[in-house]
Amino acid sequence: MAFPNPKIVFAVLATLLSTAISAVQYPLPVTVLHDFGYPSWLENLAVRSNGEILTTRLDTPALYQVDHITGTPVLVATWDGTTEHSGALGIAETTSDVFYVIVAAQFDQATFVKTGGVNSVYEVNMNTFALADDNATVASNATVTLVTDIPGADFLNGMATLDDEHIYVGDVYNGVVYLVDTTTGAYQIAVDDPLMKFEADNTTNLGVNGLKVRGGYLYWTNTNRGFLARIAVGADGLPTGVGQVVAVNLPKPDDFVFATDGTAFLAQNQQDTLSVAWGVENSSGVPVTAVPIAGNNKSTILAGVSSGKFGRTASDGNRLYLSTSGGKLHPSEAM
Ligand SMILES: *[C@@H]1O[C@H](CO)[C@@H](O)[C@H](O)[C@H]1NC(C)=O
Ligand SMILES: *[C@@H]1O[C@H](CO)[C@@H](O)[C@H](O)[C@H]1NC(C)=O
Ligand SMILES: *[C@@H]1O[C@H](CO)[C@@H](O)[C@H](O)[C@H]1NC(C)=O
Ligand SMILES: *[C@@H]1O[C@H](CO)[C@@H](O)[C@H](O)[C@H]1NC(C)=O
Repeated sequence: MAFPNPKIVFAVLATLLSTAISAVQYPLPVTVLHDFGYPSWLENLAVRSNGEILTTRLDTPALYQVDHITGTPVLVATWDGTTEHSGALGIAETTSDVFYVIVAAQFDQATFVKTGGVNSVYEVNMNTFALADDNATVASNATVTLVTDIPGADFLNGMATLDDEHIYVGDVYNGVVYLVDTTTGAYQIAVDDPLMKFEADNTTNLGVNGLKVRGGYLYWTNTNRGFLARIAVGADGLPTGVGQVVAVNLPKPDDFVFATDGTAFLAQNQQDTLSVAWGVENSSGVPVTAVPIAGNNKSTILAGVSSGKFGRTASDGNRLYLSTSGGKLHPSEAM
């Protein structure tokens, strides 16, 4: 079996965002922006306001910037990968160019079971980051500081921004979501919903995975149970309702992203597939049925697709950038 190389790719979504599913041409074509080579595992993405892409690696605790036009990668930060951490995961922005990154404890790369070290949240302030004139070497580093360790967490994975000072981080094994004050480092378990837990069906022990905040709700995917769910949250980030499933037909979802119109794009890492769910905000108790639009489990084009983010410049706002792992968790039949 030959695994394809982990990549950042993009799909151009010009027609999709304004067109109903019956008129959409799919599978969507996917273009490679940068190939990171094998072995590596790209886990999550953020896009800076200047358009440049940030990507975390799960196979080693590292953060890269990738030029959104040329695809040239530059190393932004690394963490202790020998005794403390195994990889970097969720990333989210609060105020302009201030990002937070989950740096996971040491874990078994095959089972994700914690073997030592600690789960941590770091701040990566890109306001101090600058490239040299060659656009390929660092002239001034990002400012990286520890926000907090979370010793009680088994495996922190997803992250979402609540407001300028607070982020959510999810423990994908324990099925709980922490709220972290990025100024003080204080944290608490904010959401502990039954729909965040995995069920012991032996397919995967990953529960709450991708996280996003939108319109007064915290949304999440549950990898083991194959759905997108949400819960209403107040301004303090604590739940004001109960969890509900808003999209189904999503085997093994990883992270996801909302387009500006509320359409959800969901990366199904272990199915090598990208699916789309329309109207989840108005699902009013009846989950919508997600539809696959790119990749599939017999293709390598989106092997191990792990997360997506839209471009932020005038020229790439309709591009959905996607990170891939190379499909180590669920090799496609084409490999
Ligand atoms: C560096 O990037 C800037 C902005 O995209 C561009 O104008 C410039 O031509 C690039 N320089 C090189 C050496 O590629
Ligand atoms: C950036 O940080 C790295 C790692 O600490 C260091 O090797 C490098 O010299 C720094 N670069 C600059 C321009 O300060
Ligand atoms: C499923 O997992 C449970 C708990 O770890 C274990 O006892 C059981 O043998 C497993 N079943 C199969 C079919 O693997
Ligand atoms: C591959 O995808 C098809 C269509 O979604 C699904 O029916 C099938 O169970 C998948 N196969 C595996 C091995 O996951």
